[in-house]
Amino acid sequence: MAAHDAVEVISAKRDRAELTDSQIDWVIDAYTRGDVADEQMSSLAMAILLNGMNRREIARWTDAMIASGERMDFSGLSRPTADKHSTGGVGDKITLPLAPLVAACGVAVPQLSGRGLGHTGGTLDKLESVPGWRAVLSNEEMVAQLESVGAVICAAGEGLAPADKKLYALRDVTGTVEAIPLIASSIMSKKIAEGTGALVLDVKVGTGAFMKDLDRARELAETMVELGKGAGVRTVALLTDMSTPLGRTAGNAIEVAESMEVLAGGGPADVVELTVALAAEMLAGAGVTDVDPAEVLASGRAMDTWKAMIRAQDGDPDAELPGARESHTVTATSSGTLTRLDAMAVGLSAWRLGAGRARKEDPVQAGAGVVWHARPGDPVREGDTLFTLLTDEPERFDRALASLEGGYDIEADATFEPTPLIHDRIG
Ligand code: URA
Repeated sequence: MAAHDAVEVISAKRDRAELTDSQIDWVIDAYTRGDVADEQMSSLAMAILLNGMNRREIARWTDAMIASGERMDFSGLSRPTADKHSTGGVGDKITLPLAPLVAACGVAVPQLSGRGLGHTGGTLDKLESVPGWRAVLSNEEMVAQLESVGAVICAAGEGLAPADKKLYALRDVTGTVEAIPLIASSIMSKKIAEGTGALVLDVKVGTGAFMKDLDRARELAETMVELGKGAGVRTVALLTDMSTPLGRTAGNAIEVAESMEVLAGGGPADVVELTVALAAEMLAGAGVTDVDPAEVLASGRAMDTWKAMIRAQDGDPDAELPGARESHTVTATSSGTLTRLDAMAVGLSAWRLGAGRARKEDPVQAGAGVVWHARPGDPVREGDTLFTLLTDEPERFDRALASLEGGYDIEADATFEPTPLIHDRIG
């Protein structure tokens, strides 16, 4: 006879009891095998969202999700490993310049990434706009590329934390994504199973992020850092701003192009600042303290690694990136200073133009997205172009324009106070 049953575990959490180790192990295992039904797991997820879990329960839940699948092992590599995870934001292309930069500094980066869902973009969707590039690698190919190039960005294999894959898809359709215990265990089960030696978490806070306020972002960061350290992974978190979108583009091919500007020594200042800050943390976590990532970025060596990384996955780094068939510009109706550019408004607009997907199986448009020509603090004059909207399907413009409405302010005689990009460090 089974050690527990689903109704017992759901009722315990409904009544605010602490789940025992044995209940947690059982429910994750039984759900992965299909013995606990989706409606039962969704009820338990809602009870967790409403009543929470303590740190012991979260650690056990994470361990049980890791145990549902395989663990990767990079200990045989000739260099240390470090990875970065972002909780997701608008215009967040940082992984693209960061992985080759850190590899060019001597630390291997095994970056298992996802596709976008909703208003935040997915790293794999962006890279798939590079002609020929292939997201799916075998574990052997991944290890070989880490040794030869030093950086891999690829899709997580089916065998990694399968309990999380099933549970995340369920949470997505049952209003239970936003529970800190479930987000922390979901992210950390995959990162711990991936086998990285060091991990830097970029926890986004602001309108365009899961976590809208600093207190909740800090709680999520502290929970994940504790889980990482408990599993022997050197883990730190930066709390970074996502009230304004990063850089000047949100989409797929246009974010790849912007990342290549950064790798060529240019690009928007905020993307460069965050890339270098995260690289410094990854290098420190991997024990490399004598290399300055800002210097390596300026030297062009990270661009060489980027090209090698793209080629190793059958992409052509010199091919022209796809564009959109149609464009539409939005101009300023008054003069002054751009004092606010809302990340959620821009993210929704890019999504509605076809850069993102509503359902997992939907395709994305490589050329779709939004370019913003001014950032908060910039002066604008009436008639200046503020946004360029890009899509293959012009019928999408109306809804994309509607989501930008109210998403920015231009004020005359305004005193502008910039929001810091990095709010805090937890480690
Ligand atoms: N990303 C994940 O991988 N899991 C979550 O629960 C939220 C964001």
